[in-house]
Amino acid sequence: MDIENIVIDVKDFSFSYAMSDGETQKNALNNVNFKVCKGEFFCIIGANEAGKSTLCNALVGLIPHFFQGNMTGDIVVLGENTKDATVADLASKIGLVFQDPFNQLTYTTTSVAEELAYGLGNIGVPRAEMHRRVKEVAKTMRIDHLLQKNPLELSGGQVQRVALGSVFVMNPEIIVLDECTAQLDPLGSKEIFDVVKVLNERGITVVMADNDMERVAEYSDHVLVLHENKQVTWGATREVFADLDFSSLNLRPPVYVSIVEEYIRRGLWKKEVAIKEKEVITISREILNQ
Ligand SMILES: Nc1ncnc2c1ncn2[C@@H]1O[C@H](COP(=O)(O)OP(=O)(O)OP(=O)(O)O)[C@@H](O)[C@H]1O
Ligand SMILES: [Mg+2]
Repeated sequence: MDIENIVIDVKDFSFSYAMSDGETQKNALNNVNFKVCKGEFFCIIGANEAGKSTLCNALVGLIPHFFQGNMTGDIVVLGENTKDATVADLASKIGLVFQDPFNQLTYTTTSVAEELAYGLGNIGVPRAEMHRRVKEVAKTMRIDHLLQKNPLELSGGQVQRVALGSVFVMNPEIIVLDECTAQLDPLGSKEIFDVVKVLNERGITVVMADNDMERVAEYSDHVLVLHENKQVTWGATREVFADLDFSSLNLRPPVYVSIVEEYIRRGLWKKEVAIKEKEVITISREILNQ
């Protein structure tokens, strides 16, 4: 790993939420350690309640600055310790797209254009520049036709695009996406994901909590695996997926891994496990030609 290029460094991070009774705490994550390099496509996987959203909240400083609780360890984003930075300051470097896009709306604006401009206003971007950036982002997100609409009148997929747009408009170097396609139908999900891919190709570092294992296998460089509030492993996706016992983590393996494992079990294939569609096609052809 190229130390010069590390943009996120998570060091022994643990967090427990303070409960509303003011006395008890809910443990959410323990001793998480990993690094993300510039330009990477990094995925976080784990079953329900594993701690994915907690980690996403921590990466952008909402933990410890917004959520009450007990945090130990450090998270350093682009050289800045999140404990010492403000959330607003971090927002222009690292943006979070929430798991529920409706949480992203400010509920203080009357049009999508205002919604997109909101964060820019907070950091004092001049009006002309604001207009330019809102227009550009609306085009990328294919929401130009919605700019004058009231955000409360949008469909789920449209809200998701506005949510992503309101993060992207800040020009962050890193975007964190918390299962941002989980609530969409396959077409809506593909549309959002295609935009994320374009952003990544433009050099933006992407950190994505995602349980679509085929997609994680296909696109991520590195993957972090969480289970029951703990880190199971992290590393290059190919290496992690080749060894991972998915079922014990309540996760479904990528279908391509299952197919090749079956080939291996039947003695048809004696080499390594594949994790991507194209690789399985090649292996299947080879087996058929044997
Ligand atoms: N605001 C909160 N207050 C108290 N406990 C919380 C809060 N948010 C999450 N938790 C608890 O922290 C643990 C980790 O939850 P988290 O939401 O981070 O998991 P997740 O992997 O994102 O789950 P999901 O797949 O359901 O989105 C769970 O036990 C959860 O109940
Ligand atoms: Mg979550």
